[in-house]
Amino acid sequence: MAPRPEIVAAFEAAKGFMPLDEGLALHAAATRAAALGLPLLEVGTYCGRSTLLLADVAREAGTTAVTVDHHRGSEEQQPGWEYHDPSVVDADPGVARMDTLPTFRRTLYKAGLEDHVVAVVGRSPQVAALWRAPLGLVFIDGGHTDEHATADYEGWAPHVAPDGLLVIHDVFADPADGGQAPYRVYRRALESGAFTEVSVMRSLHVLQRTGLGI
Ligand SMILES: C[S@@+](CC[C@H](N)C(=O)[O-])C[C@H]1O[C@@H](n2cnc3c(N)ncnc32)[C@H](O)[C@@H]1O
Repeated sequence: MAPRPEIVAAFEAAKGFMPLDEGLALHAAATRAAALGLPLLEVGTYCGRSTLLLADVAREAGTTAVTVDHHRGSEEQQPGWEYHDPSVVDADPGVARMDTLPTFRRTLYKAGLEDHVVAVVGRSPQVAALWRAPLGLVFIDGGHTDEHATADYEGWAPHVAPDGLLVIHDVFADPADGGQAPYRVYRRALESGAFTEVSVMRSLHVLQRTGLGI
């Protein structure tokens, strides 16, 4: 089921990078995965734009969306880089680092979705090392270096339950369109034999667990 107009409006009002068509594809994937009755987990919260969609599905399905981020921004979001937003830098001169957590909390609160989300503040590999529960969906949208994308895959893909979905964002086959680390992880997932592609919307690829391992 497509998100209600107020959820689409909240998504479009939230800071973030995901276009609406990819957001709708993520929402559809989450709706499908939520039938398993397991939590939906995102790596890369930023200001909550995509989290809103997982939270909306979690609310409808009676499950929980979990979102993981250290809230200090990825490489390309740091000062001087293409995706930097000075409005999400901590105003305390003693800190002066990116902090997207307050904006994320406002996004969720205004959409009335706080009760359906568990936000984990920390480095993805560190959180993954503690994680034990099976997941209906893992959405990888964290750091885009090989180091980070690989760690996200190796840390979280093992927790995707049978028939669960692995969704990867910013998958670009052509280097002219964007960085290759998410693409390499996507190829690895397919070549593992554990995942089969079920849909694609631009750079958002949806894979289903159809085998063991990663
Ligand atoms: C592209 S943004 C996520 C965008 C968000 N999913 C959306 O659609 O609005 C990537 C996020 O990943 C986070 N991140 C990058 N590397 C990380 C890591 N190793 N552990 C936790 N978070 C990380 C950054 O802080 C940043 O907020």
